[in-house]
Amino acid sequence: MSETTINPSTTDNQLPSNIVMSGIRPTGMVHLGNYFGAIRNYVSMQDDFECYFMIADLHSLTTHPDTKTLKENVRRVLAENIACGLDPNKATFYCQSHVYETGELYLYLNMLAYKGELEKTVTFKDKARQHPENVNAGLLTYPVLQTADIIMHRASLVPVGKDQEQHLEMARNFVVRFNHRYGDIFPEPHAFNYNKSLVKVPGLDGSGKMSKSENNMSTLYFADDDETIRKKVMKAKTDSGPTAPNTPKPDYIDNIFMLMQLVCEPDVISKFEADYNNCNIRYGDLKKQLAEDMVKFMAPIRQKTNDILANDQYLVDVMKKGAEQASKSAVKTMKLVRDAMGLNYL
Ligand code: TRP
Repeated sequence: MSETTINPSTTDNQLPSNIVMSGIRPTGMVHLGNYFGAIRNYVSMQDDFECYFMIADLHSLTTHPDTKTLKENVRRVLAENIACGLDPNKATFYCQSHVYETGELYLYLNMLAYKGELEKTVTFKDKARQHPENVNAGLLTYPVLQTADIIMHRASLVPVGKDQEQHLEMARNFVVRFNHRYGDIFPEPHAFNYNKSLVKVPGLDGSGKMSKSENNMSTLYFADDDETIRKKVMKAKTDSGPTAPNTPKPDYIDNIFMLMQLVCEPDVISKFEADYNNCNIRYGDLKKQLAEDMVKFMAPIRQKTNDILANDQYLVDVMKKGAEQASKSAVKTMKLVRDAMGLNYL
């Protein structure tokens, strides 16, 4: 409903409404689900839009106040995303904490955000339930900070998954309030999917989607070595196969076929589909094939990540360039904001 589909050839690139912005939390290693659910989508946008992709290191403080491993996590997420195709020469790729203006805009927006609506946010309620000992104000105002990230670049196209819909709805509310009170400065942000719709990547345990928090054996990380990838795939749940032709697939088998769609050749998939429908499928062979194709797909990305991580100067340069570009955009926006709010006494 609130999803926007735009054909870039029919839109004017000068309009602020054609700016893409998204954030990536540095709280876990990148996995196959992130790649097909998000990163691939970013990569396809960077040629056609002005894109801002941000490592949300400040957001991570709401749940991970210990910063000992933050630097390492930020470096890894940067490297993994670049290895997956995100290009710092095409998109502005930066760390949230490098754009100091974000704190200021967050402050102004906090005056337009009501305690009641923030408390009703599903992600807040979940986190508060999981960690009752750390229900901090940053957690409560998480969607306000996210709004500041987005509108700092006056972006309106926000490539995010379903779990972020409510945050975007709140962002639209904050924007409408700001514009109503101080003048039309910001476009309303919407969830944005480009070309192909988001691919849901199932986990290897037959239930739910691949995610970082759940079962480690069911998630394929780009940091996994070849043997680990093989082991995880071979452990995926199967059964003794269908006994009648053209039986509908149980979920856990369907999931394995979905994973094949991502990395196997079409004729390989057709062969196993036919075997399944003829009741002579050998799941051991199927998983071996999937494991090898998965390794073929994932190993080069792991290798590239390691090369990038070994080159500290490169990562520093990427972060500096991103910080510079993002800050330039932020300084411009904040001038508009302060003028609109009348915070310009000098
Ligand atoms: N909240 C997002 C997540 O959990 C991360 C994020 C932070 C973000 N700032 C953003 C996403 C701005 C889109 C736009 O994944």
